[in-house]
Amino acid sequence: MTSDNDRRRGLLARLRGERSAGRSRGRRRLGAAFRLIAALALAGGAYTVFAPGVQAQENPPITGAAAEGKALFDVSCVSCHGRNAQGVEGRGPSLVGVGAASVEFQVGSGRMPMARQEAQAMRKPPVFTDEEVRQLGQYVQELGGGPQVPEGDLREGANLATGGELFRINCSQCHAFGGGGGALSSGKYAPSLRPATDRQIYAAMLSGPQNMPVFGDNQITPEQKADIIAYIQGTLKADQDQGGFNLGRYGPSTEGLAIFLVGIVALVFASLWIAGKS
Ligand code: HEC
Ligand code: HEC
Repeated sequence: MTSDNDRRRGLLARLRGERSAGRSRGRRRLGAAFRLIAALALAGGAYTVFAPGVQAQENPPITGAAAEGKALFDVSCVSCHGRNAQGVEGRGPSLVGVGAASVEFQVGSGRMPMARQEAQAMRKPPVFTDEEVRQLGQYVQELGGGPQVPEGDLREGANLATGGELFRINCSQCHAFGGGGGALSSGKYAPSLRPATDRQIYAAMLSGPQNMPVFGDNQITPEQKADIIAYIQGTLKADQDQGGFNLGRYGPSTEGLAIFLVGIVALVFASLWIAGKS
């Protein structure tokens, strides 16, 4: 009987003991969790206190010219190219990494700001002054780097004969031998080179707008670019219409057609005249 009671008591005690052990284990676990959270909060707090640069990193410091450019950008370009020029789906591409050369080409030739969505932005009278174009370019340059048009005379030491040869090899298939331009596929065209300035020609080669290939400095060296620019600006633009009428400079097909029409008419009249004589 006693042994039976003892056994029961012993069992109760063991149960109680186990329960209290379980409780203290739970308390221990809770304590550990609390300590972990406290440590995390402390570490997080210390990080924010000692690393204030994290927030500043999102808008890195830019130079004065770039800041002016950003102000212009935020008014005229942000609707299509997005905040910090990240691009807007279906409206305009990201400009991070296109470089000042691309901006100088697009804005300097009046293509940007684009008036409406179209297959190919057209040359228009530029909206911005040269200085503003440079500021916009500087802003995009400081955002993500990219090609830049060098300062100074871009035709220095140029060789016109080499320039002509390079032009015929690299450019004439799209812009025509006379630089008058021509149609490309899907409603696009290579424009006339007539209105382009030295810097715009250089920038076009560096940035390769639309279907035009990029002519980086390892394809066409800066010296060769000078040759090409001198050839376009000097020889091509000066050397026009030696034969009289230019017939819109559409090339040999128009000339052939014109000669054919004129010749046929002359022949018809000649035969009428001969027929009238006899
Ligand atoms: C109405 C929309 C629109 C506005 C406004 C606009 N752009 Fe664009 N932009 C485009 C589109 C679309 C393209 C791509 C089509 C093209 O290259 O012809 C483009 C292309 C460009 C490119 C060439 C990018 C490359 O890959 O080389 C540059 C640089 C550029 N824009 C700069 C600007 C700047 C600077 C402004 C403000 C002064 C501006 N754009 C305003 C729509 C716009
Ligand atoms: C595959 C065809 C192609 C070739 C090759 C090509 N271009 Fe272009 N080029 C274009 C197209 C297309 C445009 C128009 C881009 C636009 O409107 O956004 C253009 C635009 C230009 C412009 C801008 C004209 C303006 O309106 O001010 C210049 C300058 C230019 N090209 C120079 C060159 C030179 C120099 C070469 C040779 C080194 C060359 N291109 C080779 C297709 C070509």
